[in-house]
Amino acid sequence: MLLRVRDLSVHTGDTTLVSGVDLRLDRGATLGVVGESGSGKSLTCRSILGILPPGLRNGDGTVVEFDGTDLRGLDERGWREYRGTRIGAVFQDPASYLNPSIGVGAQLAEVLRVRVGLGRRAARDRAVELLADMGLRDPARVYRQYPFELSGGMLQRVLIAVAISAEPDLLIADEATTALDVTVQAEVLDLLADLRDRTGLALLLVSHDLAVVAQVCDEVIVMRDGAVVERGRAGDVLAAPSHPYTRSLIDAHTRYGIEKFRLEEAQRG
Ligand SMILES: Nc1ncnc2c1ncn2[C@@H]1O[C@H](COP(=O)(O)OP(=O)(O)O)[C@@H](O)[C@H]1O
Ligand SMILES: [Mg+2]
Repeated sequence: MLLRVRDLSVHTGDTTLVSGVDLRLDRGATLGVVGESGSGKSLTCRSILGILPPGLRNGDGTVVEFDGTDLRGLDERGWREYRGTRIGAVFQDPASYLNPSIGVGAQLAEVLRVRVGLGRRAARDRAVELLADMGLRDPARVYRQYPFELSGGMLQRVLIAVAISAEPDLLIADEATTALDVTVQAEVLDLLADLRDRTGLALLLVSHDLAVVAQVCDEVIVMRDGAVVERGRAGDVLAAPSHPYTRSLIDAHTRYGIEKFRLEEAQRG
C-alpha cells in the first residue's frame, strides 16, 4: 500500500469542512476523486501534500501514511523528501505556476538541478527529453518558448513534466484537465495513464466530472459536502451510480466519454 488515508478531516474554527475521508492507493494504481465544486476534493489533496491554506487544520484523528511514513509527523525539512519529489502534483491553471518571463525549458531545467541534482547541461538535455516524453512536438523549440506562447494543453504538459521530473511514486492531479477543451483533456488524460503504465506511478485523479475520471481510474470515491458518499470500481459506479448525487456528476457534455468507456469495456470483454 503506497498511500493510506484514514479519517481525514479538515476544520477551520468550529466549522468542519471535510470529515471521515478514507482512501487507499497501491503503486501503479489510479484512484479517482469526484464531487461537485466545494465538496472537499482539493482540501483532501492539500492535506495529503501538507499544504492546507492558512487558518485550516487537520483533525487529530487524521492519518496520512505514505510508503509506511506518517506524513503528518514531518517537519518542513522532512517534507522535502516527499512534496515535489516522491509526491508530485499538478493543478488547474498551469500558467499560474510558471514564471511568465522565463522560458519554460529553463524553468523545468531549474527544477531538475535543484530537486534531482543534475548539472546545467544534463538538466537541459533531460528537460528536452521530458518535454518529448510529454508528447510535445519539437521539444527543443518548446524548451525556448515562454508560457504565453503555449496553449493551455501544452502548458499542462510542461507542468506534468515538472511534477514527474523527480520520478515521484505518486502524482496528484487536482482538476488538472478541467480548463482544457474536451479533446485536449482526453489527450492529457491519456498521457497520465501512459505514464502510469510505463513508470508504475500511482495516480490520484481529481475531477468534478465522473466520466473524466472513469476513463482512467480503477476505483473512484465520490465526495459531497466534505464526506465520501459512494465508492467502488469506476465502471460500476459510472454504469449504476447508487447515489442520485453521483448521477448528477455525469456531465451531459461527457456522454461521449461514457460511450467510449463502455465501448472499450465491451471490447475488453
Ligand atoms: N481557505 C479556506 N478557508 C475557508 N474555507 C475554505 C477554504 N478553502 C476551502 N474552503 C471550503 O472548504 C470546502 C471544500 O473546499 P475544496 O476542497 O476546495 O472543494 P473542491 O476542491 O471539491 O471544489 C468548501 O466549502 C470551501 O468553501
Ligand atoms: Mg478543488
